[in-house]
Order: sequence, then C-alpha cells, then structure tokens
Amino acid sequence: MNREDRLEKFQGVHIAPSILSADFARLGSAIAEVMEAGAKVIHFDVMDGQFVPPITIGPLVAAGIADQVHDAGGVLDVHLMIEQPDRQFEEFAKAGADSITFHAEATPHVHRALGAIRELGCLAGVALNPGTPVEAISELRGSADLILAMTVNPGWGGQAFIEESPGKVSRLKPLADGALIEVDGGIGTGTAGRMTSAGASLLVAGSAIFGSPDPAAAYSEILQAARAG
Ligand code: DX5
Ligand code: ZN
Repeated sequence: MNREDRLEKFQGVHIAPSILSADFARLGSAIAEVMEAGAKVIHFDVMDGQFVPPITIGPLVAAGIADQVHDAGGVLDVHLMIEQPDRQFEEFAKAGADSITFHAEATPHVHRALGAIRELGCLAGVALNPGTPVEAISELRGSADLILAMTVNPGWGGQAFIEESPGKVSRLKPLADGALIEVDGGIGTGTAGRMTSAGASLLVAGSAIFGSPDPAAAYSEILQAARAG
C-alpha cells in the first residue's frame, strides 16, 4: 500500500482496538474477533521503559500480526511511546506499520521526524500528552497526517478519561490543518460521542473492548456512541 491508499483507509469515524489490553497468549484470535465485528484500524502501543515506565512490544510482534490485519482489509496504527523515536521508524515500516505516531515530547525534531515517516510511505502522526499545549502543532502546516491527543497520561490501559479532553480537541481542530484527529485513553460508550463532537475521528479503545466479556459487542457499541456524537 502507498501513502494515498493508507490515507483512504483512515477516512471516516473509526474505533481502533488497542491490543495492549488483549490476551497476548491468543493475540491472533483477539484481533480476528474485533476485525470480524468491523474494526479496520488496529492500534499498536510501543513503550520503552524510558519515555513511560512500562515496556511492551516492538517490531517483531508488529511483523507477526501485520499480514493478518492487512489480509482482513485493515491497517496497523503504531503509537510509539519511546525516546528517540526516529531511530525506530524504519523497523516499524518494514514490519508493516501503516501509520507511525511519535510523541512531540520525545524529540526536538518533530517536523523532521514527520518527514522521515512519510518518506517511508507511512502516514505520519504526532502525539501530544495531556499537559502539552495544542500550540505545539501550530507550525506543522500540513506535514502531519494524524494528530493524536492523549486523553489519559500515556503508559497504561484502563485509566480514567481526562474530562478536559473534549475542550482540548476543539482547540486543536483549527490548528490541525486537515490532519485527522485521534484520541487515546479512557474511550468507551460514555466518552466516544463527546470526542467525535469535538472533532476526533479515530478513537482508540483498549480496556473497554478487550476487558469486556464480549469484545465484538463492545466494539459495536462504542462505534455507535461515536457516530451518535
Ligand atoms: C496508553 C495507550 C493506550 C491504551 C488505552 O498509554 O496509549 O492506547 O491502550 O487504553 P484504554 O482504552 O484502556 O484507556
Ligand atoms: Zn496508544
């Protein structure tokens, strides 16, 4: 897939199940379950024990699931919560990432890093922590495909949604210059509608889907709530 095909796959309102909350002993079937329910964007959380305390998964696991996601018509949305993210872009692109999002707080070279991701043919995303002002992206002028507004502090699934987030996304929207707005953390049926109303179209949900006894049903309910917003 080239960048244009990838961009098309991300259009519209999407709920992106975060596999961070899935059972890793049966990762393939957990992914199949949500994709059969209609999910097209699979969110992949990479943590390095430095930018955030936990260590999670890397390119090896991304490569292990990429074919399954692509064969089912989906895309792999990689969220890097790591220091020196630019050192890893190529490995994730090779592993099959469709979008690569790094944190603005993790590099002084946000503009250059976005360009490096696009050169690899992937969608380029930049993430902002809850405490980072929206103005951090105001000079990017079309160089980002995705802006990820964290709606919890990064590092763990299952945290409480930060209530100021819809207001922040509303302020972010006019600065995004056409980039898609993604939100991540504490998204479920109670918060999804508020985020789409504020201007987000890609909503990550981890524990609300994989922590549910019926992940497929949970996915559908969150999508419905997001569309109703
Ligand atoms: C947290 C990760 C999230 C996480 C969200 O730092 O970036 O993607 O999986 O989990 P929930 O939806 O449970 O808040
Ligand atoms: Zn994430």
